[in-house]
Amino acid sequence: MPRSIAIDGPAGAGKSTIAKKVSQKLGFIYLDTGAMYRTVALKAIKTGIDTKNHQELANMMDKLDISISHENNLQKIFLDGEDVSEAIRAPQVSVGASNVAVFPEVRLKMVDLQRKIASGIDVVMDGRDIGSYVLPAAELKIFLTASVDERARRRYEELVQKGQPANLEAVRDDIIFRDKNDSSRALAPLVKAADAIEIDSTILTIDEVVEKILYFYKNYANIT
Ligand code: DC
Repeated sequence: MPRSIAIDGPAGAGKSTIAKKVSQKLGFIYLDTGAMYRTVALKAIKTGIDTKNHQELANMMDKLDISISHENNLQKIFLDGEDVSEAIRAPQVSVGASNVAVFPEVRLKMVDLQRKIASGIDVVMDGRDIGSYVLPAAELKIFLTASVDERARRRYEELVQKGQPANLEAVRDDIIFRDKNDSSRALAPLVKAADAIEIDSTILTIDEVVEKILYFYKNYANIT
């Protein structure tokens, strides 16, 4: 059986940076599930579909072609054959992703793909529902949090470093909106799994969190 580590938590807690580092240390692949919901949202935006329109989105899912590749532990995501790994990072795609992620037609298709990947290869998977829903038998489950202000500050710095237009208040509002939206949906909401270990990263460095997770994996993972 391939091995798996689930890292869940709210937007901006540092999941992707940390999951990537942990996967490198262990020789697992890193699967960013948020990128999948972002790609669904990008397709909707490109085709002029409102990301809150359930019926139109459900129809769109039948024609959706998403694929993922991993080379040197770098995930690339393709929409209808086109590499959209950068395009899905735009702020309006973040909100759209949170909107489309409430619909069962979207979630079930994405979860199917996530489970298929995890059934064939050792993986560190990050998202909102990995430990609680996608991989309930993951060997280690981490729930990563940080204060809203710290998460907003990190996202803002990230945008500034990429040279993108950024406004701290707007980034903070976006995070608060997504926290609420992601936690309150009916199917597989953002929730800490009963057997997950919570790490608050507000005053920890990335490497400190990575070390903690590796320690937990070596000492407490349910490795059979
Ligand atoms: O991790 P992220 O910011 O790239 O995720 C974008 C949105 O996708 C997030 O606000 C909610 C949704 N998402 C989800 O519902 N389930 C996941 N496993 C991952 C992301």
